[in-house]
Amino acid sequence: MEDDREPAAERGLSGVDLSRPSIARVYDYLLGGKDNFTADRAVGDKIKSALPEVHLGVRAQRQVLRRAIRHLVGEAGIRQLVDIGSGLPTAGNVHEVAREIAPETRVVYVDNDPIVLAHARALLAGSVGVSVLDSDLLDPGRLLGDPVLRAEIDFDRPIGLLLCGIVHYVSDEEDPAGIIARLVAALPSGSHVFLHHLVEAGTPGEKAAEAAMRQGMGRGFFRTPEQVGSFLAGLDLIEPGLVRVPDWRPDGSEDSAEEHPVLRLAVAAVGRKP
Ligand SMILES: C[S@@+](CC[C@H](N)C(=O)[O-])C[C@H]1O[C@@H](n2cnc3c(N)ncnc32)[C@H](O)[C@@H]1O
Repeated sequence: MEDDREPAAERGLSGVDLSRPSIARVYDYLLGGKDNFTADRAVGDKIKSALPEVHLGVRAQRQVLRRAIRHLVGEAGIRQLVDIGSGLPTAGNVHEVAREIAPETRVVYVDNDPIVLAHARALLAGSVGVSVLDSDLLDPGRLLGDPVLRAEIDFDRPIGLLLCGIVHYVSDEEDPAGIIARLVAALPSGSHVFLHHLVEAGTPGEKAAEAAMRQGMGRGFFRTPEQVGSFLAGLDLIEPGLVRVPDWRPDGSEDSAEEHPVLRLAVAAVGRKP
């Protein structure tokens, strides 16, 4: 297939290997975005052929992220968010949703994908109280010590930590529970953690989709809801607990997991640090 995008070098992104699919760009493709290349679309097409309704799954992921932000900012009163694995800018970015409720909300976006970082920096240039950090979830020590994070976020006031659609890219060997525990330990009491994670549900196509992710991006781990729940150990889960994505504080705009099995493939929860 012809690539309709300019070469990355022309866009100031020399050094990015576009023949290697990226998690962020495959997700962008599944969301119907334009920031993706041939290699990303090839992986996305394999996922689509395994799960023809995957577009509903990624849409539900964006929707639950919005509901979680509205809860954190609107109900829990949190005014600072750290979004790890923020992804390519798309409709309803975290700072936009938060600032509709509380314009003073500070947001730090964290990602390790150079194209995500370039787009986010371009979009956010000049936005006061919104920062973009090049850091890696797999190295929480470096992230927590980052001078930009420390300057932007007050670790004496509750923080909203967003882990939406990222922890299922961390392998068991990389110790997702330990990484999250390390981050949570640094948060003050009253902080909230939002987690969205892919799960096994015994639905048609899910094994093939997981295989396409692993083969294409080297990562993608569907876990059991119990394993995902264990990542939030020590936090008080707010109602309704860890549930399928459409069931987490629905606002009436969700598709039904009964009608669309793809929506059984992810769970969401918010835990509050006591
Ligand atoms: C599927 S996207 C999710 C985007 C957004 N959070 C959402 O739910 O709509 C996952 C993002 O996590 C980023 N990511 C994956 N592994 C990461 C890591 N170890 N450290 C930082 N970012 C990572 C990818 O680059 C990508 O932008």
